[in-house]
Amino acid sequence: MVQSKISGVINFVLIFTLLIGLVGRVSAHGILLSPIPRLPYGHNGTEVIANVSNPTKEFPCGLAGDSPGPVTIYKPGEKILVAYNRTITHGGDCLMQMSRYGSKYDKDFKTFENLGTCGMEKGLFTAFVMVPHEECDNDDCVMRFRWDDNVGNNYLYCANVRIKKYADCWESKKRRSIGASRRSLKN
Ligand SMILES: *[C@@H]1O[C@H](CO)[C@@H](O)[C@H](O)[C@H]1NC(C)=O
Ligand SMILES: *[C@@H]1O[C@H](CO)[C@@H](O)[C@H](O)[C@H]1NC(C)=O
Ligand SMILES: *[C@@H]1O[C@H](CO)[C@@H](O)[C@H](O)[C@H]1NC(C)=O
Repeated sequence: MVQSKISGVINFVLIFTLLIGLVGRVSAHGILLSPIPRLPYGHNGTEVIANVSNPTKEFPCGLAGDSPGPVTIYKPGEKILVAYNRTITHGGDCLMQMSRYGSKYDKDFKTFENLGTCGMEKGLFTAFVMVPHEECDNDDCVMRFRWDDNVGNNYLYCANVRIKKYADCWESKKRRSIGASRRSLKN
């Protein structure tokens, strides 16, 4: 409850900050805009965003660590937008990764898409990537954007995700119970 309230506030702050263009003035190196990442807790949104835009050595999830964030639900194999805004120019590949075992260990993050050299220009980098086909439907499903630039900096953003065929279990439960009541009407 508290977590979703906090992440709601932070999301609002993130969107608001982006809209009024503060990020450009305060951010150091770049920030992931989509999928919406975890962000550290803090009352000053400008400062939070400035902090997470910096390079980090905090593996696996950067400064945000285990902080709350929204849960984004995807369908297996769906094409999703990745958007990363850069205020520096460096080489090095950007990777999309997925952990099915939470965000405690770096080794649990496996690359499912290499976005190639994504940092050669300033401004918005966008790409559509395919979500893995295997479902993942629990608290341990974490998607990560990782950029290791060519001057030794690491950028790490974790997003809480679910990958599942049906939007929620209520939907499939409802379908089952409708089927059951049809059957019981027949009998
Ligand atoms: C994106 O990056 C550009 C170029 O560095 C910067 O001018 C702009 O303010 C940034 N915008 C956002 C929304 O981060
Ligand atoms: C941002 O980072 C600075 C320097 O490490 C720290 O003092 C400050 O508390 C951080 N602010 C937030 C909101 O995380
Ligand atoms: C938030 O942090 C920024 C950057 O450190 C600072 O300029 C601004 O005054 C702070 N805002 C508030 C309300 O504390």
